[in-house]
Amino acid sequence: MSNYHIKHLEEYFQVYRKSVHNPELYWAEIAEEHFLWRKKWDQVLHWDFNKPEIIWFQNAKLNITENCLDRHLSIRGDKTAIIFEPNNPEEKADYITYNQLHKRVCKMANVLKDQGIGKGDRVCLYLPMIPELAVAVLACARIGAIHSVVFAGFSATALATRIEDCQAKLVITSDGSYRGAKTIPLKKIVDEALEKSKVVKTVLVVKRVDIEINFKAKRDQWIQPLLDKASPKCPIEIMDAEDPLFILYTSGSTGKPKGMLHTTAGYMVYTAFTFKNVFQYQEEDVYWCTADIGWITGHSYIVYGPLLNGATTLMFEGVPSYPDYSRFWEIVEKHKVNQFYTAPTAIRALAKENLDFVKSRDLSSLKVLGTVGEPINEEAWHWYNDHVGNKNCPIVDTWWQTETGGILISPVPFSTPTKPTYATLPLPGIQPALVDENANEIHQNQINGNLCIKFPWPSVARSIWGNHQRYKDTYFSAYKNMYFTGDGAFRDEVGYYRITGRVDDVIIVSGHNLGTAPIEDAINEHPAVAESAIVGFPHDIKGNALYGFVILKETGQMRDRDNLSAEVNQQITERIGPIAKLDKIQFVSGLPKTRSGKIMRRILRKIAGKQTTEKDLGDTSTLLNPDIVQEIIEESY
Ligand code: PRX
Repeated sequence: MSNYHIKHLEEYFQVYRKSVHNPELYWAEIAEEHFLWRKKWDQVLHWDFNKPEIIWFQNAKLNITENCLDRHLSIRGDKTAIIFEPNNPEEKADYITYNQLHKRVCKMANVLKDQGIGKGDRVCLYLPMIPELAVAVLACARIGAIHSVVFAGFSATALATRIEDCQAKLVITSDGSYRGAKTIPLKKIVDEALEKSKVVKTVLVVKRVDIEINFKAKRDQWIQPLLDKASPKCPIEIMDAEDPLFILYTSGSTGKPKGMLHTTAGYMVYTAFTFKNVFQYQEEDVYWCTADIGWITGHSYIVYGPLLNGATTLMFEGVPSYPDYSRFWEIVEKHKVNQFYTAPTAIRALAKENLDFVKSRDLSSLKVLGTVGEPINEEAWHWYNDHVGNKNCPIVDTWWQTETGGILISPVPFSTPTKPTYATLPLPGIQPALVDENANEIHQNQINGNLCIKFPWPSVARSIWGNHQRYKDTYFSAYKNMYFTGDGAFRDEVGYYRITGRVDDVIIVSGHNLGTAPIEDAINEHPAVAESAIVGFPHDIKGNALYGFVILKETGQMRDRDNLSAEVNQQITERIGPIAKLDKIQFVSGLPKTRSGKIMRRILRKIAGKQTTEKDLGDTSTLLNPDIVQEIIEESY
């Protein structure tokens, strides 16, 4: 018997011990008992972190959508698979059963096939949070095409970079999207992106809003007439366990975004298992994750994890503030949501508003609350616990990454006692380690270190699309035989982990990973800018906000600073998207640099965070230009 569902603390410890004592046996039992395979594996795991090469369920054959859909039809075909809650509360919610979802996925898969898409082709999805996005994800997986979902808040340039990098043949988008009171012209953004990248042969357009769009002959067409004609039956493509399932881009500290490559079987087993345990999902429950499918959270815990478990998963198109700040709570009340999973930044934003928004709603259906994406501060944790959970719902602070595919460190609710700001203990199969700056593993508790993982887990990303060397350099080179997360962590006296934040040049703003280098590149393209450096500084709602130090060229010196600031932010919006806009811009005459010319971001971070005493700043005498530090401080905000 496998240990698929952990129900109490003793069981957690027992399962955890088994999972690290013999991970192969542990995962093989779960895989065997809870999933449908067209052929079993020859070997459970083969791995070598030096190459790096990680193979789970070697030579097994399967299709993930058969596991998400087909196998449920005889037992829960009429159960709601997806509840769609539109942006506008006046518009009716949609309830899509497993039978209906299966049909819609098959139709979409047939449309893709008719457009010449087959196994291994890349399909880019640039869509709002509407059911078609989930359907398109699954349709790709059904025919073995590799989906690359790009968050529909990214700009045309960012979209073009991602399309170009994976050489997508086809894009599915919509005419536009609703976000609160705004309508965003998505098709227009795709048109701009495709001016820059010529690889896309076909654009299929979902009709969602009422705006005029341009159609490029031979390339663009409405998808609905094609869906209407398509057959509702589509046989699965039989996939190898290690065939690519999707690419999802995430920011790196340098260079262009990294297309994290996830494969089929290990991702399936791990996301299903973690969904079941971290949310303690029961058959009748309604589960809601507020993330966007454009991020890994949406892939793993809106689409795949829930559907693999035959769950009812809610998709929300809108934003927490529209029409007012009660929207989340109204949805919880309306659909009697049992598990609610959101980001600390949303909690902080909602906690600032009138408590009546929460208090006026019946939230008694809630059983488990979750957070993800960034550290949750103590105040936000208590607000969530007291006012949303009514002190009655365990909070699962789930730590993981785009690269990890699924949640690695989290309480198992009703088993692991929670502790504010702590992600607590590793899930089964996960072997975390803290490492010091000399690359030695630290074994004692009550200590900070760099967080690594010692043994492969099934859903770890297998590569960076088109750049395996970068995958090796980023994750497997800092520490021998370990995956390096890029995060720092504190381990307390009982072995609980608290994630303290990034230790590299990635900044997490409102739960979104932003690399400093791409933002600096965008700013430096402005004709008046000579050089720039970006750092994060603490922000009440966003967790971190961005502070830009900008050196102007001679030609820019005479320009109005407010106009220039606006232009710099416009430049960032165009190159990356509004999420990367700077909250503060300071024009400076120089940047603190080491003798080798490297910008000392540590000092800029302190200045941005208003920690400017000599003690805060540390030794600045070794800088190439120590005087600049005082000058920047004096002119800082
Ligand atoms: O720094 C950690 C932070 O988010 C990073 C991963 O970002 P991304 O790949 O966009 O995935 C976000 C959704 C899984 C991590 O390296 N992070 C994520 N979850 C937590 C967190 N920091 C603290 N606590 C968390 N629960």
